[in-house]
Amino acid sequence: MSQNALRIGIAGVGTVGAALTRLLHSKSNLLAERCGRAMTITAFTARDKDKDRGCDLSNMTWFNDPVALAKSDEIDVFVELIGGDGDPAFASVMAALENGKHVVTANKALLAKHGVELALKAEENGVILNFEAAVAGGIPIIKTMREALTSNSVQRVYGIMNGTCNYMLTRMENEGLSYDECLKDAQELGYAEADPTFDVEGFDTAHKLAILTSLAFGTQISADDIYVEGISNITSDDIIAAKDLGYRIKLLGVAQRTASGIEQRVHPTMVALDSPLAQISGVTNAVAVEADIVGQLVMSGPGAGGDATASAVASDLCDIAKSKPGHQHAPALGKPAAHLEPYVKAQMQAHEGGYFIRMSVNDRAGAFASIASRMAEAGISLESIVQHKRPEELKKDNKDSQPVILITHETTEAAIRGALDKIHSDGHLAAPSQMIRMER
Ligand code: HSE
Repeated sequence: MSQNALRIGIAGVGTVGAALTRLLHSKSNLLAERCGRAMTITAFTARDKDKDRGCDLSNMTWFNDPVALAKSDEIDVFVELIGGDGDPAFASVMAALENGKHVVTANKALLAKHGVELALKAEENGVILNFEAAVAGGIPIIKTMREALTSNSVQRVYGIMNGTCNYMLTRMENEGLSYDECLKDAQELGYAEADPTFDVEGFDTAHKLAILTSLAFGTQISADDIYVEGISNITSDDIIAAKDLGYRIKLLGVAQRTASGIEQRVHPTMVALDSPLAQISGVTNAVAVEADIVGQLVMSGPGAGGDATASAVASDLCDIAKSKPGHQHAPALGKPAAHLEPYVKAQMQAHEGGYFIRMSVNDRAGAFASIASRMAEAGISLESIVQHKRPEELKKDNKDSQPVILITHETTEAAIRGALDKIHSDGHLAAPSQMIRMER
């Protein structure tokens, strides 16, 4: 081997950091052969120095302070696995870049907020900023979008990007478990974020989507412009009704080009049971890209967990090990950060799609007719209207209200919201209605 070993400093030795440490040890020969150079972890920092993590950190230099590690002469690459969009993650990544260190991060929250600034800083300092692990865990979607699709114009990128939510929705459907039971298991298995509301309320997916949107459309990252709805309002009634009608509920992140700008949205979504995304179960993620030259790509794989994420971090490290000092590096966001276009937001009210509406309708003459006419007034065409009763509900023989599902043809968010407001004020509903968007 001609070059010295690549010296790695790791900040944050939780599930991913420990898995990475084990991986770099167990695959050291393979990695050295593939990168033409050895890799060695020389230093680390973590909240607790002495905690047993099931990996050997004994020969590494300990740093109390991530920023000091980031500036240290003992490392060539700073691996940021601390998490969060503020300090110490931000300060230490900035310090690393300013001090000429390459950076690998799995931190989607940090990139969603500061990605453009960090990309500029990396370019200014002639170093690499890599973040394969930040989106969809082990799926190499960043490399695919940044490198493999350079000749394509992307029309839409969408997918299941939160393992915790997909795991929960799968178990709620397959085992009839409660939302809380599923969340607890996901946390115990190490899938969930430190604050699981990031997972279930859709923010984790939004962070990942913001990064993909920039790569897909060459625009500045604009996470604050994402419409976000999580899965905490999804009930087993929705899951059962969806399945009976040929659909499955998934938490999707979707970015698409429209006539008025780029739409970015995260919400529970009905996908047809025979569609590729409906087959994705458990902690698995999947990302679909629709582009003009290649057509449609769908990639699936483990989206969370130590080993899958460590695999993505290791691939970023390998790229750095293979890079040539003094040569220009590929820009972090697919084109020079200064050339990213401003993000132009398409308004959510203008979103066009089909809608699934579940209602509990007061059982009196004219209720259905009134609901149908409110929909017609708003120009909404109904694909189906089903009086949806489960056998258990039939047994209860509730004479006061009737469960009804409407599925609409393509309409706009503004039209459906306007119609639902009127239906509510007409007093025909026994409870607030549920509205779930469909993606075809
Ligand atoms: N909490 C995330 C998930 C981990 O459940 O997908 C990976 O970002």
